[in-house]
Amino acid sequence: MKVWTESELEKISKSLEGKDPKEAIKWALDNFQPDVSLACSFGAEDVALVDMLVKVNPKARIFYLDTGLLFKETYELIDRVAEKYGIKPEKYSSAISVKDMEREYGPKLWEANPDRCCGIRKVVPLEDALKGLKAWITGIRRDQAPTRANAPVVGWDAKFNLVKINPLVTWTWEDVWGYIRKNGVPYNVLHDKDYPSIGCEPCTKAVKPGEDPRAGRWAGKGKTECGLHK
Ligand code: ADX
Ligand code: SF4
Repeated sequence: MKVWTESELEKISKSLEGKDPKEAIKWALDNFQPDVSLACSFGAEDVALVDMLVKVNPKARIFYLDTGLLFKETYELIDRVAEKYGIKPEKYSSAISVKDMEREYGPKLWEANPDRCCGIRKVVPLEDALKGLKAWITGIRRDQAPTRANAPVVGWDAKFNLVKINPLVTWTWEDVWGYIRKNGVPYNVLHDKDYPSIGCEPCTKAVKPGEDPRAGRWAGKGKTECGLHK
């Protein structure tokens, strides 16, 4: 298997910049399948990516991190997506159940120490999911957050030591919804109830008109990332 240097990845990334996101997906699958997988939170970006991925290769891999604290609407969506596309997303979850976490760290760790909670429920399971992979695909976009403003289409993920492909980096929120509507992609019903960005239930609130789309994530906690992307 070829080892990619950072400057080669930079060149590839530049060549894919502004192209149809399916081109980045094709590049990822051509070079890494079956050691590449889409990290899917089942948010709007990610369901669009599932649709593209399955169209490029129905055998492409998809995984999700089940924190045990997702909304019931998200669990329902996972079933709907699996059925529509005839896929079986791979589930990764913490070895510590929500109940055990409460016994060990006290009640509502997401309030007392959200970084530790994300570490246990998201980052460790992500490390498990990425073990054995050469590349992962994510739904991050540059205009989501200042921390994502310089994300490349393709790059080396120095935190987790593998190639990271972000096919939607240049897309806007409107681009994502244009794709979902045009292609009849199933989406989380919470998006129609003022939840643009959806994570775990205890840490996600609806946003008010005019608010930043990510304002409902960890509202009032001074936290903007859960450790998957920085
Ligand atoms: S987060 O870091 O704030 O939680 P966000 O919800 O914006 O992330 O999602 C950004 C990308 O991270 C998603 O497009 C997806 O690739 C990945 N991701 C986030 N949450 C999950 C999850 N529960 N399972 C798998 N991938 C996820
Ligand atoms: Fe815990 Fe909240 Fe992070 Fe989910 S988003 S893992 S509940 S701190």
